Amino acid sequence: MADPKPGAADASAEIETKRLSLRPLTPADAPALFEALQASREPLRRRLSWVDDVHGVADEEMFILAADEARERGTAQVCGVFERASGGLLGVASLSPIETAHASKAELEAWIRVDSQDKGFGAEAARALCEHAFHKLQLHRLYARIDPANRPSRKVLKRLHFRYEGTLREDKKLNGRWVQQECWGLLRSEWQKQHK
Ligand SMILES: CC(C)(COP(=O)(O)OP(=O)(O)OC[C@H]1O[C@@H](n2cnc3c(N)ncnc32)[C@H](O)[C@@H]1OP(=O)(O)O)[C@@H](O)C(=O)NCCC(=O)NCCS
Repeated sequence: MADPKPGAADASAEIETKRLSLRPLTPADAPALFEALQASREPLRRRLSWVDDVHGVADEEMFILAADEARERGTAQVCGVFERASGGLLGVASLSPIETAHASKAELEAWIRVDSQDKGFGAEAARALCEHAFHKLQLHRLYARIDPANRPSRKVLKRLHFRYEGTLREDKKLNGRWVQQECWGLLRSEWQKQHK
């Protein structure tokens, strides 16, 4: 395995919040990850284009290994979101891609298993990754792309003070139809202003 790039995230690094622990996934997490996806498959596939490509634990293992390689290269940080009280896997939150050549930015993305949504976990995980991105990784900008019908995501982004930056028309194909993508962004200066 290649040496980690300077600045690449430490595999053992956990990000702790009041109720959550975020850490890089390992192959041992693949069964729990697949179970969480199975329990949430229909609602998630309405929002996330990769869901139909995941057929079993082996696909999750491949996803985890690819995420680990990207973490070592410093081009992504993909975290399992675990509930501290139960140790259960609630979902995934990621900074991916992380771009540091000619930019200093990352895309923020998250999903939470359906039976654990609406309990504030999504916002708590996203807030923790924003803090990590701006303070630990010293990134300049975070952005997110969401389907305009994705009201829970919009609420989470607004709560974290992301700003709406415009809409990309027919930007991607989801379940056979073209969908628009709303662009939301947050600068480090804006984050710091909120957390003085
Ligand atoms: C987006 C997502 C991660 C949020 O996770 P979560 O744990 O439910 O988030 P939270 O509980 O912190 O916040 C959700 C907010 O949306 C609100 N909400 C939920 N359903 C809603 C709806 N249909 N209309 C409007 N608001 C809604 C909740 O009330 C909550 O608002 P509040 O903070 O004012 O109480 C989760 O909905 C998810 O996994 N969605 C599918 C994947 C996805 O779309 N990911 C985003 C791509 S970047």
